[in-house]
Amino acid sequence: MAARLALPVTAAAVVAAAVAAATAAATVAGAMAPAATAVVAATAAAVPTEAPTAGCTAALAACLDGLVPGGTCATPLPVPPASAPPPLRSPQGYNLTPLRPGVYSYYDGAYFSLLLRDGPALALVDFPDSAGSNVPDGSGTRLTGAITEVLGGDVPAHVAFVYSHPHFDHIGAASRVAAWLNTTYPHTPVTIYGTAEVTDLVVQSASRRAVAPTLVVAAPRTVLAVGALEVQLLMAGGHSASDLAVYIPPSCGGGGRGNGTYSGDDDSDGRAPGILHHVDVVFPGWSPFANLAITTDVAEFVTVHDTLLALDWSIFSGGHLTKLGTRGDVAVSKAFVTDLLAAGAAGVTGVGPDAFGAAGLGQVANASSPVAGNLWYAFLGVVRPLQVDVCVRQMLERWGCALGGLDLTVRSACFTTATHAVLAG
Ligand SMILES: *[C@@H]1O[C@H](CO)[C@@H](O)[C@H](O)[C@H]1NC(C)=O
Ligand SMILES: *[C@@H]1O[C@H](CO)[C@@H](O)[C@H](O)[C@H]1NC(C)=O
Ligand SMILES: *[C@@H]1O[C@H](CO)[C@@H](O)[C@H](O)[C@H]1NC(C)=O
Repeated sequence: MAARLALPVTAAAVVAAAVAAATAAATVAGAMAPAATAVVAATAAAVPTEAPTAGCTAALAACLDGLVPGGTCATPLPVPPASAPPPLRSPQGYNLTPLRPGVYSYYDGAYFSLLLRDGPALALVDFPDSAGSNVPDGSGTRLTGAITEVLGGDVPAHVAFVYSHPHFDHIGAASRVAAWLNTTYPHTPVTIYGTAEVTDLVVQSASRRAVAPTLVVAAPRTVLAVGALEVQLLMAGGHSASDLAVYIPPSCGGGGRGNGTYSGDDDSDGRAPGILHHVDVVFPGWSPFANLAITTDVAEFVTVHDTLLALDWSIFSGGHLTKLGTRGDVAVSKAFVTDLLAAGAAGVTGVGPDAFGAAGLGQVANASSPVAGNLWYAFLGVVRPLQVDVCVRQMLERWGCALGGLDLTVRSACFTTATHAVLAG
């Protein structure tokens, strides 16, 4: 694309080049489109989601009827009932949910992290920096309240911090938690696990809201022992360049003498369930955040689903929104992104020069036009929006009532996958 843009001599050549670039991926447009559609239909049929409510069906029909070029639903679609936010149970404003002995899910109304304990060993996986994460009297954070609850009056012998990835919405409370630990348990050593990517970003950060890793994770698989609880840090990627999937394999008894009210939700075969925490790719019950959750690698955003599903687990923690997930949620997410890539490609192959001309592409070659010579206008004002429109309609029709918030994220997601279709060919 850049090479094409560097060379044009006349405005007419510019327009011709823009159309050619925009349709470059469409080489065998007619032949490709039916096959892609068939794959999509098969995938969608294989992964059933909740039946849409009558309210959402009506709202989606109204949205699709009123969809204007460049737009999305005029009124946001209702959130699927199963994706509604749960009430927060603790007075401090969080839910601490035992998943198996020694493994607790922490939820603050927007973010999920994990607290792990076996006897005197404590590990904390991510440090959400949600709005209002400090407790009102300044004595700690909501997370330190949950840590106190998990410790139940015991003094930890050592504490491990684990950062899933470098983004401060997930690790920005770490410095406050470290300071609190230092005050509350001054003799307890802390080891901080993170990748080189995390280390670089934390060291460079102006805010110092996270503490730099003291143990840089570089191997594809690093085993962290929390007492007898085995925790694997797997270099999985998908969102940032080096996301760690934090994986606790199912157990037949060893490890995890926590101090909680574990209620015994073992796998049907009597094992403590496998647990997987991987952040910012799978959003159980919801569409991914805008721009395909700002992934650094669209192809890896798709393939990481297989990496996750290849592991033996039954409880998924995705870091965001309203609920933990199941294997079904990861399979639904995989079907969704597969469909989204196909819809992005369908947008690129499905809109031709006539439609671009009708939408005003020729004005770029009109010396009197306000957009004369404006190549970004050709791409971002005409070509890509029309391609995205095709993708948006397809995705809303198929997923609008299945995943919360899709109408708000779908244009940027389709922009990402249509662009990926052009660039990755
Ligand atoms: C759990 O906490 C209680 C105090 O709340 C404490 O007496 C007990 O020893 C703790 N048990 C474990 C296994 O940590
Ligand atoms: C912990 O607190 C002590 C006393 O204020 C201080 O000297 C020390 O540097 C702190 N350690 C860390 C790791 O912050
Ligand atoms: C060129 O642009 C001017 C200014 O917008 C407009 O009045 C004119 O109709 C355009 N010419 C063509 C051929 O579209």
